[in-house]
Amino acid sequence: MQIVSSVAAMQRLAKKWQRAGIKIGFVPTMGYLHAGHLSLVREARQRVGKNGKVVVSIYVNPTQFAPTEDLSKYPRDLKRDLKLCRAEGADVVFTPSDAEMYLGRKNPQSAIRNPQSFSTYVVEEKLSRPMEGASRPTHFRGVTTVVAKLFNIVLPDVSVFGQKDFQQAGVIQHMVADLNFPVKIIVAPTLREKDGLAMSSRNKYLDAEQRAQAVILFHALQAAKAAVQKKSVSAARLKTDLQKFITAAPLAKLDYVEFFDPETLAPVAQVKRGTQMALAVFFGKTRLIDNAKL
Ligand code: PAJ
Repeated sequence: MQIVSSVAAMQRLAKKWQRAGIKIGFVPTMGYLHAGHLSLVREARQRVGKNGKVVVSIYVNPTQFAPTEDLSKYPRDLKRDLKLCRAEGADVVFTPSDAEMYLGRKNPQSAIRNPQSFSTYVVEEKLSRPMEGASRPTHFRGVTTVVAKLFNIVLPDVSVFGQKDFQQAGVIQHMVADLNFPVKIIVAPTLREKDGLAMSSRNKYLDAEQRAQAVILFHALQAAKAAVQKKSVSAARLKTDLQKFITAAPLAKLDYVEFFDPETLAPVAQVKRGTQMALAVFFGKTRLIDNAKL
């Protein structure tokens, strides 16, 4: 497995593969890998076959964090991540620095502190607005920008994203269609802990009590699913019920719960089987998200 940290070297490698007709599968991550990430790497391998190349990027992208968020505390363990990628059969791990990604190699200063050095962003203007976009207004601009950059650097034929970040996957699919990126986007299922909590690098922030109560997100999805299997229910009514349901976990503070069309993300007034539900819940400063088709 090769470890590449320069943009130019990654691009050279990708171009070489492309010229040789070798398929490239790509999994972008922010590292601190768990079994959910690794399931995406396996999916990428299945898509490109044993003659294809699988690239995993590990990059904690500063532009998708607001100044008040957890950028500097975001968990990192590159040594362990590399071991996991090697065991999973990745061909390349791309681990650029902030300077590489946002400045070009000649300028050693931080792009974030020196905004003049980086001034082009990709913004999806529809699917990125509600839910995560409403709670974290600059988040998706950072995601679409870095993913567009990574696509231009890694030149993937296929790229795999997790359903765990349902809205993110939709925004990326929209960006790819709107801007004609020649890449196929695959959305792979959410991997969960034994009790149902969706795996996430941020679960590490939870103390024992918070961790025990965090399963309330999964239980809320199941409760909503049960409520709409036989009849439709008004979204307003179901939101009130779920708000109450979530207070059963005293450390949980609901950020949002939404019911929406899985394609357009447009909110629905009546919730029925097949409606998509997403929610975000705070445990202290840690914000967890989950979603499911009801
Ligand atoms: P990160 O949170 O590291 O997630 C990387 C990928 O793993 C995303 O596609 C995410 O949806 C997927 N993933 C996370 N938890 C999962 C789980 N439990 N089961 C299956 N897949 C899971 O999402 C990002 O990084 C960034 O925004 C990124 C796309 C890399 C851009 O910076």
